[in-house]
Amino acid sequence: MTDVPTTTAVINLDLPGPTISRHVYGHFAEHLGRCIYGGFWVGEDSDVPNERGLRSDVVAALRELAIPNLRWPGGCFADDYHWRDGIGPREQRPRMVNSHWGDVVEDNAFGTHEFMDLCELLGADAYVSANIGSGSVREMSDWIEYLTRADDAPMAAERRANGRDEPWKVPFWGLGNEAWGCGGNLRVEQFASLARQYATYTRDHGDNRVYRIAAGANADDYAWTETLMRSFDDLAADEAPAGPFQAVSLHYYTMTGPWSDKGDATSFSADEWYVALARAARMEDLLQRHGTVMDRYDPLRKVGLVVDEWGTWWNVEPGTNPGFLYQQNTLRDALVATTHFDAFHRHAGRVVMANIAQTVNVLQAVLLTDPDSGALVRTPTFHVFEMNRGHHDAASLDVHLRDVGSREVDGRELPLVSASASVRDDEALVSLSNLDADRARTLVLDLRGRRVVGFAARVLTAPALNAHNTPDEPAAVAPAAHDGVREHERGLEVDLPPHSYVTLTLTLA
Ligand code: AHR
Repeated sequence: MTDVPTTTAVINLDLPGPTISRHVYGHFAEHLGRCIYGGFWVGEDSDVPNERGLRSDVVAALRELAIPNLRWPGGCFADDYHWRDGIGPREQRPRMVNSHWGDVVEDNAFGTHEFMDLCELLGADAYVSANIGSGSVREMSDWIEYLTRADDAPMAAERRANGRDEPWKVPFWGLGNEAWGCGGNLRVEQFASLARQYATYTRDHGDNRVYRIAAGANADDYAWTETLMRSFDDLAADEAPAGPFQAVSLHYYTMTGPWSDKGDATSFSADEWYVALARAARMEDLLQRHGTVMDRYDPLRKVGLVVDEWGTWWNVEPGTNPGFLYQQNTLRDALVATTHFDAFHRHAGRVVMANIAQTVNVLQAVLLTDPDSGALVRTPTFHVFEMNRGHHDAASLDVHLRDVGSREVDGRELPLVSASASVRDDEALVSLSNLDADRARTLVLDLRGRRVVGFAARVLTAPALNAHNTPDEPAAVAPAAHDGVREHERGLEVDLPPHSYVTLTLTLA
């Protein structure tokens, strides 16, 4: 064991930082490929067990994750979506072309009522993305009235006529999506004005309070964030929640190649393993820098940063529709996810929500459904969400790492250990990722400030870097109890196998 390098991590258990919002464990479901149709929605007459058309196994699996919110209907689709097409008797709903995703005809079987029903079954908050690109202010304003109004106002009466008496709660509202691209190809100044206007008509009806999220930057477009931040009048002086909107978003995808050849999901070299993890680690940099821009205008951190699209984007699986963005998901995707969550936890004071793209059958999905057999597969990324449940709404803890080792990728050093931690009452959760493809590490956890009276550890790993789950082998990558943890004079000593994710639950006195 002499050639196993040692890393040290110091955690002051008595110095809690900002709360990690459970909403950073949010999800995203777009009308894209088999995410909605085949993923969530099979229809009431399907042989696949369902509740009012919604797949029962998918709902049950997502309930295991306690998913806090679901973003819908897009994505690019949102700015083509006209909500009135998706209400009323299904057989009478108009059809439309889904021009972004496969140019297929959408029959609008899944609309507003189906989405809100899904959120209720999941116990998740609704995050509705409104159409700014091709819609109108009135259309959007009517939608929120339809969803959330209780009395005999015209939209509420129409909702009742369509079978839903009680208004729903819609806490999150997106103002456009990727306005710099598929959401209208707008200049930022133009979008900033539109966002103020649309935000004005995103009304709070009854006791529904809406958190408005303006479509934000692509990756490192700091000028976009800066211009949106100038929309606020005086954030430093205002005690009340800031208007016109409450948050700006950010989109960033991990891929190892250019758009034309993003890299394969399961067939990759060790070098591509590191490139993917280095690109994922870029999230830290993006949060830091967008956060610095926001701090300049908003030192009290009233405006949230919402990373409402993140994850890996690989070449589609051979033989599948290129417009459907269906990809497999390996141990590498799992470590991309742990790296993102560590960054979200470290920036808990600013990052109020994040949404992986996308929940089922699209991009870095947590669930895959087999179109032929109907079988449901939990991906390695699913297991990361499950292992991290203890971080939901817990207080973040700084993790001071030393001797993590590194590897040069794209001219920068990629640290080979990523970590984060949180505490709630008498329990702490520590997340440790060993990004080294080949080498194990020993990690000395120097635990200060509170007495640790018990611990339990779990590990997610597999022999091969590209290990993944399929209907035939659904648990090739699944969490297991980890017995490589010992007491140490400074706290605990933890074995980190190569390419692994380890979580430690600590019981505190
Ligand atoms: O998640 C897939 C697409 O990626 C979304 O529709 C769009 O917002 C982004 O470009």
